[in-house]
Amino acid sequence: MSRIAALAYSGGLDTSCAIAWLKEDYGFDEVIAVLVDVGQEFDLDASLARGRAAGADDVVLLDRKDAFANEQVAKALKANALYEGRYPLVSALSRPVVAEAVASLAAEVGADAVVHGCTGKGNDQLRFELAFKATYPGVRVIAPLRDTIWTRGAEIAYALERGIPVTQTASSPYSIDENLFGRSIEAGILEDPWVAPPEDVYALTSSPDAAPPPVEVVVGFEAGLPVSLDGEELSLVELVAVLNRAAGPYGIGRIDMIENRVVGIKSREIYEAPAAIALIEAHRALEDLVLTKDELRCKRSLETRWTELVYEGLWFSPLREAIDAFVDVTQARVTGEVRLELRPSAAVVVGRRSEHALYAETLASYGEGETFPHQAAEGFITLQALETDLLAALALGKATA
Ligand code: ARG
Repeated sequence: MSRIAALAYSGGLDTSCAIAWLKEDYGFDEVIAVLVDVGQEFDLDASLARGRAAGADDVVLLDRKDAFANEQVAKALKANALYEGRYPLVSALSRPVVAEAVASLAAEVGADAVVHGCTGKGNDQLRFELAFKATYPGVRVIAPLRDTIWTRGAEIAYALERGIPVTQTASSPYSIDENLFGRSIEAGILEDPWVAPPEDVYALTSSPDAAPPPVEVVVGFEAGLPVSLDGEELSLVELVAVLNRAAGPYGIGRIDMIENRVVGIKSREIYEAPAAIALIEAHRALEDLVLTKDELRCKRSLETRWTELVYEGLWFSPLREAIDAFVDVTQARVTGEVRLELRPSAAVVVGRRSEHALYAETLASYGEGETFPHQAAEGFITLQALETDLLAALALGKATA
């Protein structure tokens, strides 16, 4: 019986070479390269051609843009997910949907193994393999780029020998991952954390120094999700794309960070995610207006937990689902509008409104006609101060004894 491998294929050099290795070194008779569209820029024809040249028996394109936006991106936005306070999980979010797509195709064709192109140094191997195990229980998982460590030069030579076209992107000095929610860039000169990122690492954003004059955009939210820009209703995929184009020219969402990976190393990462950063800023501002103090306190700490789980590859986990259930309950009232000013390097909230606002001008105002029960403050302080009074009296007694 012929042995089949289903590979998570990106169209890049690593996974193209992996096709050849699977046949030559791992002994598979058939390799199906699965290219999952999560909104990344890719040259479809070139990817198909490269996959075939590498020996793939089939190159299958699966469109998961909407699934990715409506599941992973939507939940990340509702959870204000920023790993270590800054990284909107761009790559971490896409892995579960890519792996699930590959696993479903593998199950359909009865593949003997699923394959990914991650190395042993990163987080993505965890995300892929945990997602494979969750969605295709018992399947054999192969990681050829972890089994054998290749230098870029040796890999290019190997590809050329076999007639696998090496394009300019394949020989790029950076390792790039992208999807509709943003881009992750690492390696090359960026490995020196003292070196400022050259402008050529960026594709979605321009330098804030060259930004156009500030503009305002109104983001409409319904039950925690952005649904419109300046009154125009858009699907999440469209809305993120439009906002990326609007915020990118201001350099909004450029992130340069030293990040703690799961495997115990710190790495230098560059991200660009203009819409993600702008939307999280706006969403938080709307939550501040409509959620109770206790909901906010509890949610902010669970957001951190959610983000760590997803970063660490535990998308398919009961705790992630449980936190999402909590988040969804809180989001029922997160409907309203936020005014965002796009200016160099920042999307700044300049206004918010909602029919569910718990902000009451009559309570907060220092002007006329306010209704705050001032006389109640005195009694409140008496009770709040009981322990302070006791402690101070004890300290005084000790001092005078
Ligand atoms: N460090 C990031 C993460 O773990 C990005 C990894 C993406 N890969 C890349 N080739 N840039 O999510």
